[in-house]
Amino acid sequence: MARILTGVQSTGRPHMGNILGAIIPAIELANNPVNDSFLFIADLHSLTQIKNPKQLKENTLQVAATWLACGLNPEKTTFYRQSDVPQCTELSWYLNCFFPYQRLKLAHSFKDKSDRLEDVNSGLFAYPMLMASDILLYDADYVPVGKDQLQHLEMTRDVASRINHKYGEVFIIPEAKLQKDAQLIPGTDGEKMSKSRENTIDVFENEKSIKKIINKNIITDNSPLEASKDPNNSTVFHLYNLIVSSEKSSKMAENLKAGGYGWGHAKKELIEELVKSFASQREKFNHYINHPQEVEDVLQKGALKAKKVADATLNRIRESLGYNS
Ligand code: TRP
Repeated sequence: MARILTGVQSTGRPHMGNILGAIIPAIELANNPVNDSFLFIADLHSLTQIKNPKQLKENTLQVAATWLACGLNPEKTTFYRQSDVPQCTELSWYLNCFFPYQRLKLAHSFKDKSDRLEDVNSGLFAYPMLMASDILLYDADYVPVGKDQLQHLEMTRDVASRINHKYGEVFIIPEAKLQKDAQLIPGTDGEKMSKSRENTIDVFENEKSIKKIINKNIITDNSPLEASKDPNNSTVFHLYNLIVSSEKSSKMAENLKAGGYGWGHAKKELIEELVKSFASQREKFNHYINHPQEVEDVLQKGALKAKKVADATLNRIRESLGYNS
């Protein structure tokens, strides 16, 4: 049985790109009976950017509700909030002490963020070691991540190997499991969907808001109704293709190529599908948002399970380093 672990940052309500690219594939892996899975909300990582307690809490609720609404089964998966397992911050200190400053300086994510953000704090810099701690604390074998996280996984493997080299087999060396699709979900502007680009689609919104986003934000060329249109060059078609059957997708592609079918028609079909295909998740999501205590109970139970594993690993490393375990 392989142990799979992944985390999502609680920087806000997950959008369609997060859901299709990361959350649903992770849930599929988690639900596979051959896997033993750990999924958590990385709310300690969020503190690098969010300094508002109400918002931090609210974001966690939104993220947890999303995972549960998208089919995560907390009976099968250890589902928890990172900050409920303080063992993680202790381990991250140890890791920091074994990872060269000069290597951490090479992290792309830090460079990207420090160029963009006003609050360039040391937490942002140490971020990869907190992430390594999330992974090594639970003896994960595989870590499903997007391409942007691969370097963090390399650093995780690196720091674990350095410690193993010095102290014996303290850590399992994890492998990244690249989620290719995470890169392929276009936002309304055709670029990768991401919060910072402000091109996201929120599938939990009501029909009216989804309609507004699609109609206003997706720019289409102004070819006349009769003209033949290239589906492969169209964000409307790409998004539609991601959520419908291959029959429906081929039908829209044919319609676009044939001419006499406008972008307005295509947008209308996309809106209908977005509303329909996420209907059950939307309903569950709203249920959890309106019953936050249910979510809290799930996370508390998950934290108890996670802590058991975390304590065992922490004892191992404490003992190796020469602390009381
Ligand atoms: N850094 C990841 C992201 O931004 C989130 C994360 C934190 C994570 N800890 C992790 C992912 C551990 C996988 C494993 O997406």
